[in-house]
Order: sequence, then C-alpha cells, then structure tokens
Amino acid sequence: MTQPMDLPQRLTSLLGPSAVIAEGPDLEPYAVDWRRLFPGRPACVVRPASTDQVAQVVRICREAGAAVVPQGGNTGLAGGAVPDASGTQVVLSFNRMAAIRSVDPVGLTIEAESGCILKVAQDAAAAAGRLLPISLAAEGSATIGGVVAANAGGVNVLRYGMTRSLVLGLEVVLSDGTVINGLRKLRKDNAGYDWKQLFIGSEGTLGIVTAAVLRLLPRPKHSVTALLSVRDPAAALRLLELAQDELGDQVSAFELISATSMQLVAKHAGLRAPIAEGEWFVLIEAASSLSGLREAAEAMLGSAFERGLALDGVIAESGAQAAQLWALREHVTESEAREGKSVKHDVSVPLTEVPRFLAEAGEALAAGAPGARVNAFGHLGDGNIHYNVLVDADHDASVVNRIVHDVVAAFGGSISAEHGIGQYRVGELARYRAPSEMELARRLKHALDPDNRLNPGKVLLA
Ligand code: MLT
Ligand code: ZN
Repeated sequence: MTQPMDLPQRLTSLLGPSAVIAEGPDLEPYAVDWRRLFPGRPACVVRPASTDQVAQVVRICREAGAAVVPQGGNTGLAGGAVPDASGTQVVLSFNRMAAIRSVDPVGLTIEAESGCILKVAQDAAAAAGRLLPISLAAEGSATIGGVVAANAGGVNVLRYGMTRSLVLGLEVVLSDGTVINGLRKLRKDNAGYDWKQLFIGSEGTLGIVTAAVLRLLPRPKHSVTALLSVRDPAAALRLLELAQDELGDQVSAFELISATSMQLVAKHAGLRAPIAEGEWFVLIEAASSLSGLREAAEAMLGSAFERGLALDGVIAESGAQAAQLWALREHVTESEAREGKSVKHDVSVPLTEVPRFLAEAGEALAAGAPGARVNAFGHLGDGNIHYNVLVDADHDASVVNRIVHDVVAAFGGSISAEHGIGQYRVGELARYRAPSEMELARRLKHALDPDNRLNPGKVLLA
C-alpha cells in the first residue's frame, strides 16, 4: 500500500519541484525576519506562480491542517511574515508572482501582483510619467502584497495618506481557497460593503492578497528638499505649521531626526549632516508641478530663521544632494541595528502632543530603565515617532515596552502607527485596545478564518 504523501510532496506534485523548498539552507531566508529577531521553522516554503496556484495551496494546506504564512519581501519590523518554530506552518512566498499587469497614465492606476517589488512599481509609474507615492526605506525589497497587507506608511503619508488611501481594488484568496476578484479600477464605488478594507492592514490573517490596483498621481515636476536643525520638537512642530501655511499641501514629507540618530548614522554608515550639529533635525520635502516652488520654499525657510524656528539649514541644489540628505534619514534603522539591541516602538500621538510625549517618555524611561538610550526619529508630520530604545543585550524589552506604551496610552496614542502588530506586539495590542474592540476583531477573524489557518499568532492571540 502506498503511503499518503506528506505536505511538501503534495505541494511539489502540484506545483513542480522548483516551487517548493522543503529543506536545506535555502529555507533560512524565509524562516526568519531580516533583523533575525523572530526565528521560525517552516514545514516548507511554497512559491506559487499564479492566483489559482495560491488558491490550490491554501486548499491543500487546509486539508492537511497546516497554517499558511504569506510572505512578500520579508522586510517587516513586527515579525508578521515569518512562521513560528513548530515546523508545521507553510510559508507562501510571492517571489514568483511579481508581474505588473498594467499601468494606466490617464486612468491613473497600476495593477500589480503581490510579489512585485515596490520600487519596480514606482519605476513603472515614473516611466509612464506618474507617481506611486508609497515610499519607505525598504522599498527596494518590500512587495506590493506586503505593503497592502501591512497598510504601510512611510515618508509621504503626510500628503498622500497610508497605503489604504491608495488601494482601489484587490484580489484576495480566502481561507477556504475561494478567489475574490475585486480588481476594479474605480475612483468611486459605493456598491455594498467595501470589503477590501478588511484585508488592507490585516497582515494576512483574514485573507491572502494576491494582486492590487493602486491609485497613481500626476508626477510633480519640481521638488525641494531641505535639512534644518531646530532647538527642540516644539520648534519642529511650529516649523511644520509654517511650512503648511506657506507651501500648503505641497509639503510631502516632514521627518524628525534626533542627534542620536545622526550620531548612529555617522558611526555606522559614515554619513554626516552638512549643517552644524544640533539636538534635533527636520528633513522637509515639498513637490509641485507648478514653477515657483523653490522661491516659495526659500521664503518659508527665511521666515523660519527670522522667527528663530530653525538654527541652521541647507536646501539641496540638485537631485544628488537631495538624495544625500535623504540618505541620512534612510540609514537610521540600519545604523541602529548595527549599534546593538534596540527595543522598537512605532507610536503615534495627536500631532500637537508629540513634544510632550517625547519629554514624558524620556522621563519615564530615565526613572524605570536607567542607562537606556533613546533613538527617536520618524514621521513628525503624521504624529508618528519611532521611539527606539537602545539597551544592553540582556535587558528585558517588555519593561521598556510597558514604560513607553503606558505614556503613549496616556496621550490617547497608538502602539503601532505603521509597522503593524505582527507577532511582536500581539500581547501589547490585547493590553491597550478595549476588550470590545478585541472582541470585534476576534469575530471578524472567526468569520473569515474559522480554523485559524491564516497567519496564526499574528495580530490576535490564538
Ligand atoms: C522608518 O521610518 O525608517 C521605519 O519605519 C523604521 C524603524 O522604526 O526603524
Ligand atoms: Zn517609519
């Protein structure tokens, strides 16, 4: 009598040997996140090449009682795309589903498969003279599916909103293998429930996003990038107000960088700010298709100096110089990782509370975790601060989490502004969200994934 095939064998017989990795060193990159904080052990990795194949994989895994962990570029910061250590979960990688299906410069849409790298999609939009405004440090590896499933933020949220605001249509595979094709390219669609919102930001726990239609924008012809030093976060906030008064919605990024971040970038990436040292820095970008932007930005910066809001500053004279200024910001995370252990917090508070939040969190940490160093930076324009705390390797991260998140809660903030919950913040979400909200989340999960087969252990505790 022949033995029933095991799961990797069944998947191999369905998709072919090149689509399944069942053992050996090739499994490793799929098993652990890039910071190596969440090591897992998959039953196997499966790499379908079409939506139908994704649906078949989901059905086979369901029959076998195996969980499916969707994975894009594996660039997340909350361990949302890696399997647990049980050796029973199947990683479903999208790296063979990376096509751009269409770019429409008049209808202002791009349709891409989940495994398409964000930068590739940005470049395709640019080649058509349009802008895909989702922009983040990991854009060279992050994928469209991951960006949608995580409702990614990034540096342009201030002007263009989170990923959610750019999704027009989705194709999703449900936990029973049903394919839902909602790849509509409509600006207006009020026909019934807007179900795609359920899947955006649900981190693969409610369904598996296989393709998306995203909204494009006209591509601004001119942009201005400036780096300024400011006395403190309160001055940075007043600078934001001035920038928005003078430049309106042309301000597309407004990033806060602390002196600690700059020091880490100097130490580990060898990059230095071309302005006098200070305690806090602001990186501002504005973009427009109309001429006169640079003059308006110069006038705005002039009044910032007159009012004492900025201490020193530089405006990029070329695209290359703008890229150098952005490199300072983009290297913060990587430099921090090289420094040693850091306890990350991706928090938001109401915008005007950011200075008080920073002060109070700093005081609470000094009292409760003496010796910890704060590396704060992030998207000030969105009230989203990456309040990362550098500690010794043996320091208990949960103590630091509790201190910081209690201050966040006191300000009516969120414990995850853009990185998501993944497995990293799953306990914290349960602690800081009201029981009624958690119950609603469990009902949704139960309705869409009653057997808890889709990315279990992420977002919600089992
Ligand atoms: C960033 O804005 O650079 C990231 O979201 C990163 C981080 O917290 O390290
Ligand atoms: Zn960020």
